[in-house]
Amino acid sequence: MSKLTKRIAVVIGSGSGIGAAIAQRFALEGANVYATSRNAEEGPPNASSGDSKGCVHPVRADAGSLADIKQVFEKVRSKEGRIDVLVVNAGLSENASLDNISEEHFDRIFGLNVRLLVFAAQNAIELMKAGGSIVLIGSIADELGRKGHGAYASSKASVRSFARTWANELAPKGIRVNVVSPGPIATTWLKAPEELREAVIKLIPLGRLGRPDEVAAAALFLAGDDSSFTTGSELYVDGGAAQVQGSGPHTYRVL
Ligand SMILES: NC(=O)c1ccc[n+]([C@@H]2O[C@H](COP(=O)([O-])OP(=O)(O)OC[C@H]3O[C@@H](n4cnc5c(N)ncnc54)[C@H](OP(=O)(O)O)[C@@H]3O)[C@@H](O)[C@H]2O)c1
Repeated sequence: MSKLTKRIAVVIGSGSGIGAAIAQRFALEGANVYATSRNAEEGPPNASSGDSKGCVHPVRADAGSLADIKQVFEKVRSKEGRIDVLVVNAGLSENASLDNISEEHFDRIFGLNVRLLVFAAQNAIELMKAGGSIVLIGSIADELGRKGHGAYASSKASVRSFARTWANELAPKGIRVNVVSPGPIATTWLKAPEELREAVIKLIPLGRLGRPDEVAAAALFLAGDDSSFTTGSELYVDGGAAQVQGSGPHTYRVL
């Protein structure tokens, strides 16, 4: 039984990695997915490979531009008249310790990871009715205090905090808001120096990087009716990295 049959979903930031996996999984589960990316090739929707009748509509938009994002919602409003599921996945990670944080670094991180998220959600709720679900992609970084991750980690802590507030504000309308917080996933981590990647893997109790489809499965749970009594929550997809002590000499927390 498909989990998102006939639902209208918007996934912000889906050109690669986790966002692409979420858009594909939602389509496989029957959703009509508007999937934004800076590099999207607009054209006829791509039908999912399953028999659920879902599809992905690629929408070219820069998640860093609020004007682009407004146009995405305008497009969905004119074509569908509603949104059932919003996923805000676009996010940027860059390192800088306190003595190196520049205004540009701060604005890049908070502009995408927080500012975009707020106004995407604001646009989406105008088109959402009872039963709507907002899924925000956070990170375990928000509670680890890893050196050099100050702006990124605090931006994701902000994501977590907004989810709590919005869950409260939107509950009377029957709209749920939750966070999926991945640990190290085989997307950006595949590009990390091998030594660092191996060191991180040693600190993950399950002993490997996560896969984008494993994050998509968590997003699917929170997007659909299986989580109908879940709001304001955070679902970790981290192989235990931020939950229990890793197998290495240090916990992930102090890396
Ligand atoms: N990989 C991990 O280990 C990990 C761990 C915890 C949390 N996360 C979070 O998971 C989400 C997806 O990450 P990922 O691993 O799948 O990375 P990714 O493949 O680099 O995807 C990042 C997404 O963010 C968008 N994006 C990045 N920089 C942008 C910019 N400057 N302007 C506009 N859009 C930009 C991209 O948009 P386009 O589609 O337009 O290219 C892409 O869709 C992010 O929010 C990230 O913080 C990842």
